[in-house]
Amino acid sequence: MEKIKDFARKNFIPIVRDETAKYLKKCCQDLMPDKILEIGTAIGYSGILMLRACNGNLWTIEKDVERFNMACENFKFYNLENRVQVFNDDALNVLNKLAEKGEKFEFIFLDGAKGQYIKYFPIIKNLLKKDGLLFADNVLMGGLVENFSKVTHKKRAMVRHMIEFNNLVMNDEDFVSELIKIDDGFMIAKKIK
Ligand SMILES: C[S@@+](CC[C@H](N)C(=O)[O-])C[C@H]1O[C@@H](n2cnc3c(N)ncnc32)[C@H](O)[C@@H]1O
Repeated sequence: MEKIKDFARKNFIPIVRDETAKYLKKCCQDLMPDKILEIGTAIGYSGILMLRACNGNLWTIEKDVERFNMACENFKFYNLENRVQVFNDDALNVLNKLAEKGEKFEFIFLDGAKGQYIKYFPIIKNLLKKDGLLFADNVLMGGLVENFSKVTHKKRAMVRHMIEFNNLVMNDEDFVSELIKIDDGFMIAKKIK
């Protein structure tokens, strides 16, 4: 895993940070999900971490073809290829297809395009089983979410979308949520209804 982490760092591929990774692993160990959905595979680092923490299977989505190929190789290297389906597509397409099929997941790790979380949320909510967990990373966006006045014009829409996402989840009566201010901030939301 250190090798994958090193490769990611050297090639500017964003992967889950260390403290967040500990929580992610703990969630999988405690929940023991049969089915995990991940939005944003990158090169498979968090996927491998989650799969090794439980006995379940993973559905994971990555639109970048180079990262997708590397993720497939990395899953194979860890003998996990039989427990994972990697989709090389836009997340919204795959999410809609999974919803059409009536798929349900016990654990969803949301780690794709930050400005899209708000768009994904209604679909994700539908894909998550009752008592399932949504784990959304980078919800504080390097402090920008809490300092909106300092956000440059270019990033405003993206940060506004994340603020809307955070409020939507926190105020959704079907969820009990907590925003954890560690690393880049992550939201853990349990679907209670
Ligand atoms: C933060 S990285 C994922 C890191 C990975 N979860 C880990 O911790 O090892 C986000 C990934 O989402 C992918 N991505 C961005 N927009 C996407 C989209 N619309 N559909 C699918 N993947 C997307 C990016 O190419 C990137 O590799």
